[in-house]
Amino acid sequence: MLYPCNEENIKKAADILRSGGIAAFPTETVYGLGADAFNAKAVARVFEVKRRPRFDPLIVHIADEAGFERVARLPPSGTAAYRYTAALKAAFWPGPLTLVLTKRPEVPALVSAGLDTVAVRFPEHPAAQKLIALSGGAVAAPSANPFGYLSPTRAEHVLEQLGDSVDMILDGGSTSVGVESTVLDITSPHPSILRPGGVSRERLEDALSIRVYESACAEEEGSAVASPGLLSCHYAPRLPLSLIRRGEVFTCRTQDAALIYFNRAEHRGTADGKGSFFLSETGDLAEAAASLFETLHLADSTGKAKIIAEAAPDEGIGRAINDRLVRAARRREDG
Ligand code: TXA
Ligand code: MG
Repeated sequence: MLYPCNEENIKKAADILRSGGIAAFPTETVYGLGADAFNAKAVARVFEVKRRPRFDPLIVHIADEAGFERVARLPPSGTAAYRYTAALKAAFWPGPLTLVLTKRPEVPALVSAGLDTVAVRFPEHPAAQKLIALSGGAVAAPSANPFGYLSPTRAEHVLEQLGDSVDMILDGGSTSVGVESTVLDITSPHPSILRPGGVSRERLEDALSIRVYESACAEEEGSAVASPGLLSCHYAPRLPLSLIRRGEVFTCRTQDAALIYFNRAEHRGTADGKGSFFLSETGDLAEAAASLFETLHLADSTGKAKIIAEAAPDEGIGRAINDRLVRAARRREDG
């Protein structure tokens, strides 16, 4: 059953978290499956329900400075890392940016998979903020999907995928950003993107006035160092997915495939329905990101044999879209 995000239901979800339960809730990126970050038993249940390997750390969601200080340590003042942290918090919080910082020892090791760092995010969604504030101020939450599968951008996705195994699902409708937060490591001397997401590299570079790189480790499956969770096979639909370059003609036999185009305006004459989908009307990247997982969910349930998806332009949030599509495509090839 789904519970609309009203005051009463948010309180109810907060009570569940306070008493060691787990609840799914909307954020501006994707739905999260939350537990009190300081309750290791509740966090363990999140790993179980998601069938998520214990080496893949969770993001801790906070809703104010007090919550931040309970989970993470700021870099020493006077350092570049300290200035970067301040600038990023000012520019992008609340919002779809997750910062990897030094962990406070009080945060259970399970949350961060034994790392001495912790990923912290201050979501912008008002229901998420209220839930976090009412439930103790620190909510560990991965995306609310079974490990490796498509992320949920609607409460119905959570219900279909996790159903009764969670104590409550708050329904806030479709999420607005549609891809997960950008994960940025600021524990090393030079900030690096571990996962492209809702805040583009360009915007990070503008805020910091430096070049920001994407970590090569993010691409290596099972690389245990920088970000264990960024396995190459991830975000995958049930159907095999082939990714093609933008504008490349779909020359293969397409009757048995669900087709996902990036921009409807470039494919006039291609009808909706019959397994054709469009991520955006006119090529707007934010619009395409917002509809990405929803479209993949729909394509996955067409009854076709496979999905063929066109890549987005490789810029801004388009890089996060392509990152998800590349991982979705790899799953089958890697077995
Ligand atoms: O938008 C989001 O970030 C959503 C919503 C619910 O907030 N959450 C989300 O969580 O996508 P999850 O668990 O699906 O992805 C978290 C990513 C994983 O790739 C994980 O490896 C990485 O963040 N991560 C978490 N803690 C980390 C750490 N200490 N160091 C490096 N990477 C970390
Ligand atoms: Mg996830």
